[in-house]
Amino acid sequence: MPMKALPSPTTHRRAKPALVLAIASGKGGVGKTWFSATLASAFGRLGRRALLVDCDVGLANADVQLGVRPEADLQAVVRGWVGLEAAITPVLGGPARPGGFDLVAGHSGTGALAQITADEVLAVCQGVRQAAPHYDFVLLDLAAGLDAATLRFARTADRLVLIITEEPTSLTDAYAFAKVMRLQHAETKPPLVLVNMAESKQRGRAVFEQFAGACDKYLGMRPELVGVVCRDARVSDAIRAQTPLIVRHPQSPAFDDVRRAAESLSGL
Ligand SMILES: Nc1ncnc2c1ncn2[C@@H]1O[C@H](COP(=O)(O)OP(=O)(O)O)[C@@H](O)[C@H]1O
Ligand SMILES: [Mg+2]
Repeated sequence: MPMKALPSPTTHRRAKPALVLAIASGKGGVGKTWFSATLASAFGRLGRRALLVDCDVGLANADVQLGVRPEADLQAVVRGWVGLEAAITPVLGGPARPGGFDLVAGHSGTGALAQITADEVLAVCQGVRQAAPHYDFVLLDLAAGLDAATLRFARTADRLVLIITEEPTSLTDAYAFAKVMRLQHAETKPPLVLVNMAESKQRGRAVFEQFAGACDKYLGMRPELVGVVCRDARVSDAIRAQTPLIVRHPQSPAFDDVRRAAESLSGL
């Protein structure tokens, strides 16, 4: 019987390397992890290869939301035990399957990575760049806050996606994130914005206009709207069931909203 060829890392090399998107917000609990994971599966549905990296070194939880049990995670990469690609856990069959994608899980439950050094962050960022040629999109799910590690992860991305909600604190925290990024990296492109948990599409667009107006006036850059996702009880139901939304509620308005955001990001 002929030997089956081992898949080589170059098998999925793309015509151009992945667009690396940092999903940030400043504020916690606005849906960064849920949106990152759902966007990754929406890309999978569109036949695009996506890699999600849980960069929340304090309180990683993408694997918990998705109900997967990683054999290796970011701690192994940070400690130099394995390269980033050896720490991948396929979700829903991996990027070759409809709705599937690859995940590099964070290290949850021990706080072991909370004191991550600048060199260790850099090593992860290099791993992300080495993996990029094998994907269409790499999504970095960032921690809340503005600490050095989070900003370093954000700077390694091609584009920043800020998640905002209707809460004023979410707007001020996202604005602070955009401002610090602007100060640190003057050439940065305007942030992309996703409004999450909106009461209606109209309210979501109004919140975006308010945020975009402030960025335009005080930072000299106007963010672009990626989409509005309305509050949908099926999101928390899927998270409680530790099942991706695409499996638990594929017909839900929230998944439809994320699918549209994926289509709009595919055009970048
Ligand atoms: N569109 C939505 N509709 C309803 N609830 C949502 C939505 N997006 C997020 N949530 C809720 O917000 C909680 C926090 O989401 P999460 O992704 O963990 O936030 P973050 O990563 O920003 O801290 C989720 O557990 C979920 O219950
Ligand atoms: Mg999170």
